[in-house]
Amino acid sequence: MSDQMSRITLARRPEGAPVQDDFKLETGALPEPGKGEVLIEVTHLSLDPYMRGRMDDAKSYAESLEIGDTMTGQGVGRVLKSNADDFAEGDTVTGMTGWASHATLPASVLRKLDGSVPASTALGVLGMPGLTGWVGLHKYGNPKAGETLVVGAATGPVGSMVGQLAKSLGLRTVAIAGGEEKCRIATETFGFDAAIDHHAHDDAKSLRAAIAEAAPDGVDIYWENVAGQLIEAVLPLMNVHGRIPICGMVAWYGGDNIAEENQLPAMWRSILVNRLQVTGFIIFDHWDEFPEFLADVGPKVEAGEISYLEDVAEGLENAPEAFIAMLKGGNMGKQVVKL
Ligand SMILES: NC(=O)c1ccc[n+]([C@@H]2O[C@H](COP(=O)([O-])OP(=O)(O)OC[C@H]3O[C@@H](n4cnc5c(N)ncnc54)[C@H](OP(=O)(O)O)[C@@H]3O)[C@@H](O)[C@H]2O)c1
Repeated sequence: MSDQMSRITLARRPEGAPVQDDFKLETGALPEPGKGEVLIEVTHLSLDPYMRGRMDDAKSYAESLEIGDTMTGQGVGRVLKSNADDFAEGDTVTGMTGWASHATLPASVLRKLDGSVPASTALGVLGMPGLTGWVGLHKYGNPKAGETLVVGAATGPVGSMVGQLAKSLGLRTVAIAGGEEKCRIATETFGFDAAIDHHAHDDAKSLRAAIAEAAPDGVDIYWENVAGQLIEAVLPLMNVHGRIPICGMVAWYGGDNIAEENQLPAMWRSILVNRLQVTGFIIFDHWDEFPEFLADVGPKVEAGEISYLEDVAEGLENAPEAFIAMLKGGNMGKQVVKL
């Protein structure tokens, strides 16, 4: 066993979209687990859009990273050494390892994986993004058979979960995705009734016309993953008593593409006129529902009733490149890094 580890740190705060020089690959001595701790060799690392927010020094629902900190992230891996009663060498576990080849973590923040499904699913379909789609749709979407749901970033782990659950509940599902290939995956793999390539539309008006065609009865649930041009396109199509669970706004994470101020009044007026229910939510308020989520969705994933797609980058050193690409739509499914 090597006595060295590597990690990716925040080298500087990005201006707009992150670039390679915002990250630094560092090596150091392998840490020793303390009492009640476990040393993990990371095999898969999750890359998620929320990490972009952690790189800024701005008030948010979670603390910012400091320069020099290891990039935040969930990983799965093998236990190399355990000083905790419940974990043994060779166990497969998941926890917040950060972007690192190894991590020592207290046993209390780790979850053991049983091997019934590939371990990497704990980062996507059966992890935080899957839970986000499951909780948010049921709690804030209030889906009803016969209604229409529209979701952006539809082939990602959140959007694909939302689309498949809504479809299974009898809704018409409309995917917004970047490119023809993603649109094909949305309908063929994830069962969306229609898919619209947002790259094929230069402005909100054109995108709106395409959505109106795909959603002839209007939109009852707009699942907000993206914001940007899509929110401008969808809002006027919302039905009375429609719901908008606000999950994320990835088009705005880099600080660009912000809607001009003079468009906001019309948007907010639509919320009033249509008595929309717009609810922001953050998944860490819902961790207590994880066991129920796993009990419901786990068997469906095992049985192939819920599909998932993973985009696997190879090597910790390639995590920044994969992360930068993901924020621009370069990922095909849940972005993970295999170490
Ligand atoms: N509230 C919470 O607790 C919570 C938890 C998890 C995730 N989230 C949010 O959920 C959303 C989806 O997360 P995910 O992990 O499933 O990500 P993801 O879909 O794997 O990756 C992000 C996707 O966003 C899309 N995108 C990026 N820029 C865009 C733009 N300008 N216009 C339209 N689409 C754009 C791209 O898909 P296309 O190429 O298809 O456009 C890209 O692949 C994110 O906003 C994330 O922050 C929130």
